[in-house]
Formats: sequence, structure tokens, C-alpha cells
Amino acid sequence: MTVQRAIRKVWRSNPTIEGAGVHLKRAFGNQEAPGLDPFLLLDDFRSDDPSKYLPGFPWHPHRGIETITYVLEGDVEHGDSMGNRGDITAGDVQWMTAGSGIVHQEMPRGNPQGRMGGFQLWANLPASHKMMDPRYRDVKRSEIPEVSIEGGAKVKIICGLVNGVQGPVRDIVTDPEYLDVSVPKGGQFTHPVKTGHTVFAYVVEGSARFDPRRDGPCGPDSLVHYGDGDAVTISAENAAVRFLLVSGKPIGEPVAWHGPIVMNTSEEIRIAFEEYRNGTFIKHR
Ligand code: CO
Repeated sequence: MTVQRAIRKVWRSNPTIEGAGVHLKRAFGNQEAPGLDPFLLLDDFRSDDPSKYLPGFPWHPHRGIETITYVLEGDVEHGDSMGNRGDITAGDVQWMTAGSGIVHQEMPRGNPQGRMGGFQLWANLPASHKMMDPRYRDVKRSEIPEVSIEGGAKVKIICGLVNGVQGPVRDIVTDPEYLDVSVPKGGQFTHPVKTGHTVFAYVVEGSARFDPRRDGPCGPDSLVHYGDGDAVTISAENAAVRFLLVSGKPIGEPVAWHGPIVMNTSEEIRIAFEEYRNGTFIKHR
């Protein structure tokens, strides 16, 4: 029998300032992360004020995590310590596995109307993979399949499986799914998820009921954190809705987190920053 997941908790993303002065909304971070294992952070960087995003995220290191950047509007210029340079443009995803370490910069540039939009998700790596070689999956908009399913929903599959269609990002250690789901007014979307995996939704626009047993819709910027079960059902009763639906397998290890580096112990954090200072941080070129 299918066990529909109930909502554990709902909250709204909160304004914060990151990087060199980027105003963004944080859906979750340090405080909430222990309940969202293997995920660490979700930032919503949609803005129509260039002064609020142009400062960007100049050169900084990452180790021990994956950062997943999904751009909806505008471009993010990216450059890194391996010599990679490129733009993540509207509709594209960059799934970066920092592993043993990468130093990069991420500079939002906006579209011709001055609008910028997108999300950055951080996923943790288990101890066994924290020092793996860095790896990129650069996924262009055209490589992301969109499936139409019964109930009216349209689903862009970045990672995961919907109606037999698999997204382009595969072989990720935390077995994640990352879907961009649009449901028209009056439509409904049911999706199987693995028992024991962490599941959350983040409302991009519109509103919907995310739990059949609970009254009241969740609106824009809501983070919906689900309890356990093997399916979720979202009903767009009064309005159309677009949301991200993300799941992954919890790691269940100690987390030592300082800024852009997430390890298992404070000693590993100390070593990482010492290496960053003395120029031995990068293990793979
Ligand atoms: Co970064």
C-alpha cells in the first residue's frame, strides 16, 4: 500500500546576504540542515535589482560537498581552478561535485531586462566521497527532458525518474531526485519517492496543497519538508503552481561545516583552511 507523505513542517525562505553582497532568500541552511540530510542549503537568488546580485560570489573554495545551480533567468558566469570558464544560462543546470576541492567564482549577470533568477542547492558527500576528484555535470536546457503526465503536470527532470524518463544527471552518491514541476490550476501531481529518503518541495510561484490531509495552500517561497512515506501528492486546487521537488538518501554522519567547506570533523575543517592559506588546497588539476 502506498503511504502518502504528510508535511512535517513548512516555512518561508528568509532574506540574507552572501558572497560579496548578494541579496538572496535562503530556504534552509545551517540551522535547518540537520533535518534535511543529505541537503545542506538552498538559496533562491531571484531578483530584478542588478545592484543586489552583480557583486556575485568571487573566488572561494569548496570541499566535501556538491553545489547544484539551476538558472531560470539571466546568466551565471563561472570560472574555476581547473581552468574551466563558461556561462550557466537560463534553463541550464551545473551539478558540481567539489570533492577534494575546487576554487571557483560565480557571477550572476542578469538578462537584458535586468532580471536574474535561479537556485543553488548544496548536497553533502559521505566521508567515503568527500575527497573524490572534482567533477562537473554541465547540463544545457535542451538536455533536460520535460514530460507531461496525467493530471496536467509538466515535469522537467534534472535528476531522477518520472514516467520511465530519466534525467541527465546520474550516478550521484546520495541517489537524489531534482524535479521542476508545473501543475495547472485544477491539476494534481503524485510522485513515488523512496521510503527513508529526505524529501522537500520549494514553491517557485503560485500555490498548492502539498498534503492531502492538511488544509490550506502553500504559496511562493514556501519550503515544504515532508515526513516519511513512499509518495507525495500535490493538488493545485485554486491556482497553478510551479515548485522544485527534491529528494535524497540521508548520509547520517557527523557534520563539521564552516562557510563553503563541509567535512566530518573540526580537524578536517582546520586542515582545509590551512591548505587554502598555504596553497595546497587543490588536489586535482
Ligand atoms: Co561556490
